[in-house]
Amino acid sequence: MIGRYGMKQVMLRNGINVPAIGQGTWHIGDDPHMHDNEVEALRTGIGNGMTLIDTAELYGYGKSESVVGDAIKPYDRGKLFIVSKVLPQNAGRKNMRRACETSLKYLGTDYLDLYLYHWRGSIPLSETVECLQELKDSELIRDWGVSNFDTRDMQELARLKQGGNCVCVQDLYHIGSRGTEYSLQPYLRKNSIAFMAYCPLAINGTLRSGIIGNPVLQQIADAHNSSVQQIMLAWAIRDGNVIAIPKSTAKEHTIQNAVAGDIELTDEELKMLDKAFPAPYKEVPLDVE
Ligand SMILES: NC(=O)c1ccc[n+]([C@@H]2O[C@H](COP(=O)([O-])OP(=O)(O)OC[C@H]3O[C@@H](n4cnc5c(N)ncnc54)[C@H](OP(=O)(O)O)[C@@H]3O)[C@@H](O)[C@H]2O)c1
Repeated sequence: MIGRYGMKQVMLRNGINVPAIGQGTWHIGDDPHMHDNEVEALRTGIGNGMTLIDTAELYGYGKSESVVGDAIKPYDRGKLFIVSKVLPQNAGRKNMRRACETSLKYLGTDYLDLYLYHWRGSIPLSETVECLQELKDSELIRDWGVSNFDTRDMQELARLKQGGNCVCVQDLYHIGSRGTEYSLQPYLRKNSIAFMAYCPLAINGTLRSGIIGNPVLQQIADAHNSSVQQIMLAWAIRDGNVIAIPKSTAKEHTIQNAVAGDIELTDEELKMLDKAFPAPYKEVPLDVE
């Protein structure tokens, strides 16, 4: 069975529901000895409702997409939501179609549910949008979005012909990095664009210090009989428009991440967390690590 009763869902503007907690894959595929373990962790996640998997051509240049391809083989493709990303240098007329077809080959599928422009490079945004739309028209992708875009980037995108078709933005977001709450997340909600939070556990980032081990987080985790990481995930998805994509190759972590999709934080707990990790009161540059 795919899916787990209780996992919160986020509805995309196209009416498709996706789990509020999915699975990241950065560094998955780096070590061939880990292959079976990684496949098992991803399948554990799928079996527990984390049917959204985020990957990218960048991650091991096909190695991560290949592991995802192996992991998803036994499942009904229609029940999964597969996200990949195109590198800036491939995000134009010359390379995008080939890059997308290569990702599809590694993933062993004939379409992506979501294709993201990984970060902005030198190719004009208008050309990137045209190429993304063409992939959608050719049914190689169901929808497209962007990553590492701030509010100003989104406003520029919205002014482009078909720029309004963007369904999702993927940026760094966790309890120690709340900059996107100031103007970007309100802008996205107003325009019915979903927000996907990468590095939701802050583990790979320099911002981690002061989060794990924070006494308020620990107190709330204890109250829910859960871990600090589970509270970080429950917090990230609290408003119904955010999808968090933790990466885990440890089966027990994967299960904990799925269970976090059930945790409801009380208003009082949210207030305590606001005090411990204040939201920004002005525009701040986008964090990337
Ligand atoms: N668009 C972009 O530019 C961009 C940038 C970075 C990341 N991403 C995407 O976002 C995903 C998530 O970000 P990330 O992988 O950098 O960091 P992350 O998900 O915040 O943290 C991953 C780390 O957390 C550990 N972990 C996972 N679940 C845990 C749990 N329940 N308890 C304790 N530790 C746990 C993992 O270890 P174990 O494996 O041992 O569980 C791993 O070391 C990436 O994998 C990638 O798909 C996108």
